Order: sequence, then C-alpha cells, then structure tokens
Amino acid sequence: MKITSKELRETWLNFCKERGHIDIGAVSLIGDGSTGVMFNVAGMQPLMPYLLGAKHPSGKTRLCNVQGCVRTVDIDSVGDASHCTFFEMMGNWSLGDYFKKEKTQWTFDLLTKVFGLDKNKICCTVFAGDESAPRDEETANYLKALGIKEENIYYKGKEDNWWELEGTVGTPCGPDNEWFYPLWDKKCCDTCDIDCKCHRYVEIGNDVYTQYMKLENGYAPLKNKNVDTGFGFERMLMFLNGLTDVYETDLFSDVIDYMCQKLNVKYNEDEEITKSMRIIADHMRTTIMLIGDVNGIVPSNVGAGYILRRVMRRAIRHARKINLDSSELIEIAKIYIEKVYNVAYPLLVEKEQYILDEIQKEMDKFNKALDLGLKEFDKVIGGIERHIQFAKESGEDVKREINGKASFRLYDTFGFPIELTIELAKEKGYTVDEEGFKKAFSEHQEKSKAVQKGEFKSGLGDTSEMATKYHTATHLLNAALKLVLGEKSHQMGSNITAERLRFDFPCDHKMTEEELKRVEDIVNDWIKQGLSVYKEEMPKEKAVEIGAEHQFIERYPDNVTVYFIGDVSKEICTGPHVNNTNELGKFKITKEESCGSGLRRIKAILE
Ligand code: ALA
Repeated sequence: MKITSKELRETWLNFCKERGHIDIGAVSLIGDGSTGVMFNVAGMQPLMPYLLGAKHPSGKTRLCNVQGCVRTVDIDSVGDASHCTFFEMMGNWSLGDYFKKEKTQWTFDLLTKVFGLDKNKICCTVFAGDESAPRDEETANYLKALGIKEENIYYKGKEDNWWELEGTVGTPCGPDNEWFYPLWDKKCCDTCDIDCKCHRYVEIGNDVYTQYMKLENGYAPLKNKNVDTGFGFERMLMFLNGLTDVYETDLFSDVIDYMCQKLNVKYNEDEEITKSMRIIADHMRTTIMLIGDVNGIVPSNVGAGYILRRVMRRAIRHARKINLDSSELIEIAKIYIEKVYNVAYPLLVEKEQYILDEIQKEMDKFNKALDLGLKEFDKVIGGIERHIQFAKESGEDVKREINGKASFRLYDTFGFPIELTIELAKEKGYTVDEEGFKKAFSEHQEKSKAVQKGEFKSGLGDTSEMATKYHTATHLLNAALKLVLGEKSHQMGSNITAERLRFDFPCDHKMTEEELKRVEDIVNDWIKQGLSVYKEEMPKEKAVEIGAEHQFIERYPDNVTVYFIGDVSKEICTGPHVNNTNELGKFKITKEESCGSGLRRIKAILE
C-alpha cells in the first residue's frame, strides 16, 4: 500500500486543519427524521441548517470531517469493483467564509503537492449555465490560473455539474466543480476523454458551491456563499494506491483474504465467487456500522431496520451460495471492528459483543427459514417449469414469472425480503410480479388489521375456528412452559373445545403466581409478535433430529408434518393451525391444578 486508509484519514484532516478548519467529527448514520431520509447520504446533510445561514454550535465557519454515509439505492450493483452501500466522505465546508478562489487553490494543492498528481493531467468539469444559474466562468478562470490546461476544462449541464439533494425543497445546492484524473496515459482512441467508455478517468472528488436554496420550482441565492467539498474516501484510497477495485484496498483486503483462505480460492479468479465475496464484504461492513452506530438499529420488518435485515440476509445468502460457513460472518465482523475501524470508530470496539450477538441472532433466525425457503423457492420454480412444459403442447405462452402470492408467501412464511426473491429469480432467468407482491402484502395487512379489531367473521367466529386457535395456543403454551419450568416440561395430555384448552405436563410443585404470570406474558408476547405458522413434511427421523416436539415417536408414520411457529416452537402435529399468531387474541390462564402424582394441569382461554 502506498497510502493506508488510516494515513489517508489523517492526511485529509490535517490538510484541512492547517487551513483553519476544525474537525467536527462524524454524526450518526441514521437519519434523525429532520431531513426525511432514513440514512445519512452525504457529508453535508447534517450541516444543512448552517449552510442555510444558522450559526454552527462551534462558532466556526470552517469545518471538516470524514463522514460515513449509507446509500442503498444501488444495492443491486454491489458485487462489482466499485459499489458499496456504506462509504465515507472526506468533507470540508466554508459557511459563508472562503469561496471559489481559495477552494480551487486548496484542492489543486492537495492533489498536486500532497498526493503528487501531475497538473497537466488533471481534468475538471464546471457548470455550463442555464436558466437557473449562470455559467461558472469564475471557477474556470481560477482553475486556468492555477495551471489546469484549458483543454482539460469541460463545461457541463445540470445533470453533471449541479449538486442538490433530489426530492427536497428548502435545501442548499449549487454548481459544482468535479476533479478527474486518468488511471493510465494511453488514449484508447482519438476522442478518448473524461467521458470515454474505456474508463480511463476516475472522478476523485467535487467542490460544490452551495450558494442557492432549492425552491419548489427554481432556486434563490443564499445570503452566504458556501463551499461543500466531498471526496469519496474509498475511491480516493483506491486511486492513490493505483488500484481499480475498492475491495483491494486495505479497508477490505483483510476480509477478502480471510474468505479466500477459508474457501481456498483466489480473489478475482472465479467471477461468481468474487461477486459474492464483495457482496459479503460490503454488506457485513454496513451491518456492523448500522448496529454499532450511536443511534444503532437492529434488523426488523420496518423502516431502516428492514433495510438492515435485507442487507444482512443477502450476505447470509451469498455466504451459503459460495459455501462459506455463516459463522465466518462473525469472524468477518470481528476483522472490521478490531483491525480496520478500531481507531476511527472506537464505539464499534465498545459495542463489539452487542454487534456480534445481534448478527448471530439474525443468522440463527434466517438460516432456519432459509433452508425451508430455498426448498419452497425451488418448488415454486419447479411448478412453473412444469406448467411451461405442459403449456408448450397447447401452444400457450407462460411467462417465467413468480406471482405475487408465491413471493408474498416466501416473505411472510420464510422471511425472504422481496429483493432476495427477485435476486434468486434473476439467477434462474425469472422475474417477479412485484405489483402482485405489493397487492398480496396490503391484503394481508388489511386482514391482520381486521383480525386485531376483532372484526373477522362476525365476532368470535365459528366453533372449528376457535378450536384451531386453541390448537396453536397449545403449542405456544408448551413452548412457554419449557422456558419457565425447564426443558423437561412437555405435553402429557391435551384437550381442546371451542371454549378453552386444557394441557397436562410433568411438574413437581404447584406453579407459583409468578411462574404462571411469566408463562402468560411469554405466550402473549409471541402472539403480539405476529409469528408465522408454517408446516413442513419430513421423515420422522429428521423431525426428531431437528428437535421437533413429539410424544410417542414409534406411533407416527414414516413421514410426519412438523408445524413451526416463528422460531419459538416446532412440533410434530397434524394441525390445523392458524397462519399467524396475531390471530389468537389474548391468552389467559384460568386454572392450574394437580391431575396425578407429579402431573399438573393448566386450563386457559383466548379472550
Ligand atoms: N455534497 C457533495 C457530495 O455528496 C459534496 O458529493
């Protein structure tokens, strides 16, 4: 390495500090709600009020930092040599302090004096001007005066040289000056320039002159003329080390090397394996950053938590794809925390155990569902393929598409984020009916809402429906008793009517009030969590092996059905059961009594 990531960080901050900036440190990666975005997507985002004119709490007008950002819009491109979902931005700002003259000089000095680039090769783009703002001759003139060749200065329109946060109003924005450098000298053709498809040039950073405020339609000049500079940290590190793949920089190389060693492969040898390794490396890095953030999040089914879950599950899936044991993901997280980001992100070190525990929990949850889900996925594909075969004969045209219902089932029952289904489908030359998925999703939501309000089928529903609910509640009770009384507790007898459930189990004492309360609370918590209930057929040996509850194994047929409730219960059973625990209502124990020596009996109702 010509320059390490740790050195680059320091070089940047020192360069800024020498020019009067103070290091304001990085803020949380998770949006605070004020900007309407889930994650921090640019270094300037937390500074918007000050760019618009408010006084910065430090009282200073020259600021700098290295700020982490998370952008998941391009998540599907991760796997190539340059895309990342987490990245850092080396930034500095002038809040109405210095402007174009100083800024062009400093970026020029940084590139030529500190990083040793040749000024004759540097290319710049500046804003060409349109109805919203004039052509940026001022910047172009400063650049020429510094020695940037005239033919290396390009004027470009809004799509290239105007920086703003899309979809926002009342935010700072303005023309920008982008800096480019060739990776090699030889032109591929006569017209080979910064836009050439041969990718000879890389954009290494940009200086935005945030001197306007974005309005509903148009722009208004700001009182302050600001500068917002952003140099991508990963990209700069790659470039300065003469690399063309960010995953070869020291931010990733330890993790990549570790995977190569475990898999006994070479990086960049097999395209698919390399792609999966990059996805794992990127997604695990984003995972530790989001869980270990000051406002850290954990995977869930909504908002930012869902994005995190999606990223984690994609990493787990790719690990499986290349036969990397998922326990290695923990080791990868450790490398990032202990070796790569230990100095710049001390909080990660402090939260290490917590981060690793959260990763482990999500892996346990997903790995279980993944086995079943991948099988289910294959079944869906198999069904469509058979349909296609069949349709061929009749001349009917069948699309290779997974419908909304099937993709929703994969989501709801097997925890497959829709993006995972789309990715798996793509690998098989299939598409997914995303509109259909959305429809199935909202139908399901409507239904659960109706259930919660108790409006489902005129009040309490019919007898068999109640019995079904009690049946599922019995499984939950069995699992909760194991948690409270220990693994030895199990079903000795059960009886269900439309009015109540009855459950017998071994226990050497009258259960205390607290024990009963805990059992009730656990069951009600599971009900509230809205756990999916799903079943799988398997040989009975396998059912025993995966630890499914059973009574007299020798009495079962060779193939049995195992009912799973989320990841809290699995029992050999013939059903029927509800689809989701949120259909059950409130669980209440009405009686606890003896029913023989060393045996207790619980009666319970669903309210
Ligand atoms: N705000 C500018 C960017 O994100 C510097 O590129």
